[in-house]
Amino acid sequence: MADAGVVLEAADVWEYLLSRGLVAPGSSGTVREVGDGNMNRVFVAVPDDGGTGLAVKQAPPWIRVLGPSAPMSPERAMVEARALATFARFAPEQTPVVVDVDPERFAFTMEDLSDLVVLRGALTRGARFGDTSTQVGDLIGRVTFATSVAGASAADRAALLAASVNPVLAEVTEQYLLSEPFLEHEHNSAHPSLTDDVAALRADRAVRTEVSALRAAFATRAEALVHGDLHSGSVMVGERDGVAVVRVIDPEFAVVGPIGLDLGLYLANALIAAARASALDDGELAAEHAGQARVLWTAFTAAWHAGWPDRVDGFLDEGWLRRHLASVWDDTLGFAAVELVRRVAGYSHAEDLETLPDPGPASAVVLRAARALLLDRGAFRGPGGEPDPAVVAALVTGR
Ligand SMILES: Nc1ncnc2c1ncn2[C@@H]1O[C@H](COP(=O)(O)OP(=O)(O)OP(=O)(O)O)[C@@H](O)[C@H]1O
Ligand SMILES: [Mg+2]
Repeated sequence: MADAGVVLEAADVWEYLLSRGLVAPGSSGTVREVGDGNMNRVFVAVPDDGGTGLAVKQAPPWIRVLGPSAPMSPERAMVEARALATFARFAPEQTPVVVDVDPERFAFTMEDLSDLVVLRGALTRGARFGDTSTQVGDLIGRVTFATSVAGASAADRAALLAASVNPVLAEVTEQYLLSEPFLEHEHNSAHPSLTDDVAALRADRAVRTEVSALRAAFATRAEALVHGDLHSGSVMVGERDGVAVVRVIDPEFAVVGPIGLDLGLYLANALIAAARASALDDGELAAEHAGQARVLWTAFTAAWHAGWPDRVDGFLDEGWLRRHLASVWDDTLGFAAVELVRRVAGYSHAEDLETLPDPGPASAVVLRAARALLLDRGAFRGPGGEPDPAVVAALVTGR
């Protein structure tokens, strides 16, 4: 474990980049800390002569916002760097370019994305999704296909599994997403108007059983490499030369796990954005946000269908593919539900809701949507049993 002596400060970063051979010898640059996350430090360094910048992300051996009294293994930075390498292999367009990995400092250096903004903030300011959900669904589809039984040999999957163990952060997910929000716990909070509904949800035996199943799936169902924390705070968006740019950042929670986790977290946060727009009486924007359920699912399945003809295991048949995607859809709804509960009744609330004049009514919509997603999965299938994203969208727009 690293000691405090190797933790970088802004004043050290240019020297550090020189020592790694990442900037021209003798050059100078300006460094600022940009990270506003809970866990790690992110610095952006721009050469004084105006060249392209670099971003350095370092995991201190503690949780950034809590300091040395809250130790946490800095190995998470290496988990993130390894996951970014796999993401870059299969979804290079949506993955930040990593130029250096430093296991001694638990740090890595990547492309500067300061010209982009975090999706959650953009949505809170009233932006539309544009191309974002297509890109994110495509990334999830490509990465999960390529690392699944259909896309990777048994030997490659075994190696990936061995290289992707992430017990420290998996435990964080089990705690903050898959148990505490469903229990009375000092970490939790909820809008006062939700007190009775939250208590009823926690007391509901059927809810407990569904969350138990998701918890067990997370711990045991090694379907493919997943990002593990793919909410709207892990997506950066913008435009370069008139073209939409989307980058998925921060896969420090990456594990080989259920594919529906990534789809569900992203979907839940699109629904939260829709609930916000609806609360602000912008029905049209709310419908656009909620409609991301379909956009995401379409892009995800398109990537699987694109990879399918070249699957490594020709024994797997179309019937299995249909059954597998239907099971991913069920998991997506379940993980979306627990994320919705976490964001209104757990530890980590959503800025989209908290910045509303009154977060109460929109939070109530979100909580009701979560309950429906958890307990009534069948309602989100069409007449032929096929996934029906429009029913999901209707949960938060009332259409
Ligand atoms: N390559 C980059 N270029 C510019 N800014 C970046 C870059 N990577 C991250 N950031 C900024 O730093 C913030 C924190 O980054 P990130 O989410 O990776 O850190 P974290 O500490 O792991 O966060 P969390 O507590 O959410 O896990 C991002 O929201 C973004 O604003
Ligand atoms: Mg993080």
